[in-house]
Amino acid sequence: MCGIVGYVGEKQAAPILLDGLSKLEYRGYDSAGLAVRDGEKNFKVVKAKGRLKQLSEKTNDGNALKGGCGIGHTRWATHGEPSEINAHPHISSYTASDAEANVVGVHNGIIENFQELKAKLARHDYEFYSQTDTEVLVKLVDYYYKKYNMGPIDALAKTIVRVRGSYALAVMFKDYPGEIYVARKDSPMIIGVNEDESYIASDVPAILKHTRNVYYIGNLEMAKLSAGAVTFFNLDGDEITKDLVEIKWDAEAAEKGGYEHFMMKEIHEQPKAIMDTVNKYVKKDGDKNVIDLSEIGLTDDVIKDISQVYIVACGSAWHVGMVSQYVIEDLTDLQVRVELASEFRYRKKHLKPTDLVIIISQSGETADSLAALRESKELGTKTLAIVNVVGSSIAREADYVMYTLAGPEIAVATTKAYSTQLICGYLLALKFGEVRGVITDEEKLKYYVDEIMTISDKVSKVLDDKERLQWFASKYANAHDIFFIGRGLDYAISLEGSLKMKEISYIHSEAYAAGELKHGTISLIEDGTLVIGVLTQEDLYEKTVSNMLECKSRGAYLMGLTTYGKYEIEDNVNFTVYVPNVDEHFAGSLAIIPLQLMAYYTTVSKGLDVDKPRNLAKSVTVE
Ligand code: AGP
Repeated sequence: MCGIVGYVGEKQAAPILLDGLSKLEYRGYDSAGLAVRDGEKNFKVVKAKGRLKQLSEKTNDGNALKGGCGIGHTRWATHGEPSEINAHPHISSYTASDAEANVVGVHNGIIENFQELKAKLARHDYEFYSQTDTEVLVKLVDYYYKKYNMGPIDALAKTIVRVRGSYALAVMFKDYPGEIYVARKDSPMIIGVNEDESYIASDVPAILKHTRNVYYIGNLEMAKLSAGAVTFFNLDGDEITKDLVEIKWDAEAAEKGGYEHFMMKEIHEQPKAIMDTVNKYVKKDGDKNVIDLSEIGLTDDVIKDISQVYIVACGSAWHVGMVSQYVIEDLTDLQVRVELASEFRYRKKHLKPTDLVIIISQSGETADSLAALRESKELGTKTLAIVNVVGSSIAREADYVMYTLAGPEIAVATTKAYSTQLICGYLLALKFGEVRGVITDEEKLKYYVDEIMTISDKVSKVLDDKERLQWFASKYANAHDIFFIGRGLDYAISLEGSLKMKEISYIHSEAYAAGELKHGTISLIEDGTLVIGVLTQEDLYEKTVSNMLECKSRGAYLMGLTTYGKYEIEDNVNFTVYVPNVDEHFAGSLAIIPLQLMAYYTTVSKGLDVDKPRNLAKSVTVE
């Protein structure tokens, strides 16, 4: 979703802002803009619709904009079409002329009551040149700044009391050269510093090459940045102190490292990400590997007390919930409900203090997941977050946090974060089963943990066999529909395989519980329709094969995805992909790899933008 970068220091700001914005391109955007000021002089605002390349060309790679203090933005349209006029930065002057502006600002998030505020400002003679809520927000800051003759922080405080919604807001005031002011609520923003420079960014990769020392600004807090110095304020305008946090990700992790696309790089990083995550929570005890969740703070007493588990998430993270549901229910005595965060938050909930709500999120900033977390907490229920981004809102607000060690994930289509979230789901299931006395056989527990320890190497083996999939994917690049079917855990994996395919290749695809096909969907099968059957669960294997054959007899072309040894599948399907054997509870970790590769290669064959699919954003910080 939208990206923000800001810089104050001795260097020329614009090239730094453009470079920072390029690191946020993966979040998805449709226009971009910069505002820079040269010393005491006016702001200069330059905006362009389309890719950052257009903005770079307009500014001679930023060199045409003089000055060491500026803000930049990539916009993903919410209010108003993608256009140059709607692009940020927005200014407080009545016309779109930057020279007259008192205040210039960029904003991520959504101002829910912007119509009401716009009407109020119009009554005070403000005119609007764009369709955006951000222009209203910037003009509201200007209104309070002028009306009460306030300083920037008081004007911001007054503004944020008046607006409803979410925002990461960065503004510059004409009267305060060399300073950037920010305010935040429910939209990510970090502030980086080094000796004589200060930065803002909506995500770590934008500033990682300049500094690893960052502050996290909290909800309803504000900050003032000047070169190398940051001061924080609460809503009352009082100064508050913050701890500086060191970002451990190295800058290279956010680069392509020789791969053509981030997605392929991240697919290949899965063995390491999986192993790192396993090693964080599985410790050696003599010759045994044991699951140790002490770091999370989830004590045995808390685990024993759980009466019901809810897993709440969006998109791929929700699919992890679907897999985890099968595994937890099978290995424990717990019932699990998996909920889409966007639905859960608006439903009447009968949560009890003894329930556990698990929120899964790579970014830790997904608006619906964050809202679901907050509502669960308000109802007095314990919350556990499985999160990748350290210091993200969900990580900060959950009662317990289980971090995935996937490292920065840049491609919009998640791969390595998904795989590490699965590992967390398995480990929680085993721990719950052990503590609640369902897995009583120590040898059995040891076997499960040892099996999880093998997943990383087995994923590497699947990756070694990718050429066959490349060939197959290129054959199906022109497909109109692809169906992914399976039962039980295989259905949960099908959901993720189908999402991967459609989100980047734009080929319509559906995941179906194989037994459900006959209840309607099978009428869509026609000559040549590709049906991919996921077959990793022994007791459901025959049944899914039968459902696949029903499709074949209606003209479908069948791909079977199963485990080594199941070679008889070749009698029934047209193309087969095998993955190594692992305990069936964890088979999804291997079966998903060929499906990620299929989606990737199909997209490359079609010449599409793998890492930044149209209309999508990496982190969905609005409802
Ligand atoms: C999947 O490839 C997508 N990027 C999307 O479904 C994603 O999983 C979803 O938006 C949730 O994001 P989160 O994990 O950051 O909360």
